[in-house]
Amino acid sequence: MINILVTGGCGFIGSNFIRHLLLETGFDGYVINVDKLTYAGNPNNLEDFEITFPERYIFIQADICDRESMTEVFEKYKIDTVCHFAAESHVDRSILGPQDFIQTNIFGTFNLLELCRLHRDRLNLFHHISTDEVFGSLDEKEFFSENTPYDPSSPYSASKAGSDHLVSAYGKTYGIPITISNCSNNYGPYQFPEKLVPLTILNAIEGKPIPVYGDGKNIRDWLYVKDHCRAIWRVMESGKRGETYMVGGKTDMHNIDVVRAICDILDEFEPALNSGPRRALIRFVKDRPGHDLRYAVDFSKIQTELGWVPDETFDSGIRKTIRWYLDNSGWIKQVKSGEYMSWIKKHYHHN
Ligand code: NAD
Ligand code: TYD
Repeated sequence: MINILVTGGCGFIGSNFIRHLLLETGFDGYVINVDKLTYAGNPNNLEDFEITFPERYIFIQADICDRESMTEVFEKYKIDTVCHFAAESHVDRSILGPQDFIQTNIFGTFNLLELCRLHRDRLNLFHHISTDEVFGSLDEKEFFSENTPYDPSSPYSASKAGSDHLVSAYGKTYGIPITISNCSNNYGPYQFPEKLVPLTILNAIEGKPIPVYGDGKNIRDWLYVKDHCRAIWRVMESGKRGETYMVGGKTDMHNIDVVRAICDILDEFEPALNSGPRRALIRFVKDRPGHDLRYAVDFSKIQTELGWVPDETFDSGIRKTIRWYLDNSGWIKQVKSGEYMSWIKKHYHHN
């Protein structure tokens, strides 16, 4: 793995992954980051890298759906490995408008796979980042594993399921060396505040209402983004080609408990002025349609075969995350001035 194409490297997980790869793994090849810079893509997430790694980190603004520019990238940079993050990633947006999800998540993945087929001779690996949401909702006490049947509920998860099947089919049909990882909900630095954790942190910092869908009893497993990045690299280096690996944080929690924990830790870090405990900001709002009740992940395969386990507990990871948001008000200001905040204001009842 020398010339790694990372797609969606200006997003939340992609930018954390590039940071991890270049600073913490000993990887000495080249990273070519292709990102369209949608509302969710922020080149400032890796601003310092263009200076720290002027030769080994290359950023190209392009759409993975555009065959011509992607062909140029594959040929010019002699891509031998792909780590594919680029996607439309927010469930609520997919409910309001699924078109971009089908285009980027399914057609964009197909486009990249076709280029891998064309350059099969020098391709070491196509690694696909996916989600546990492709499996739908769990009953109490069940866990998702690599053998769980696909049963997606939202246009987002259906588009990710479609991309997983394409990746897997290209492996079987054309012999492309592929791996897939399906992980649970990530949280950590650089996540845009449309998702539960950063939205809650920012609203709690600013004393704004914190929206909790339905009764707050839906359960998600929470994975600290750096643990996820370590897992991805472990799979890319040592995972068996053609295989899927589940990645989880061992922290399935009710949404309401996630929100309450964030409020309490912020009260501890920065006591609110005059307004009392931040839990008072919580508002139960109209539920999301098709809202999956419970996700939980059995990650024993990656643990046994590749020796990966998460380092962070929810408490340790969320404290680091809250501290990062408190220390990075410039990043928040910049993100909130962007196009996507006005979109959120227009579409969401709670903002
Ligand atoms: P994100 O929305 O923060 O970032 C997505 C990035 O992809 C952005 O930088 C965006 O500009 C880029 N992008 C979108 N469309 C593109 C296109 N057509 N061409 C090129 N670039 C494009 O998402 P994220 O949370 O970092 O998620 C990354 C991947 O991980 C996604 O595939 C997502 O499905 C998967 N995933 C995320 C989570 C999570 O909790 N965030 C959990 C499981 C899986
Ligand atoms: P989210 O962060 O959007 O991730 P996903 O839908 O991919 O799991 O949502 C996490 C959980 O939090 C999900 O059950 C929906 C819920 N939620 C809220 O209760 N309030 C919110 O404002 C948001 C964005 C999500």
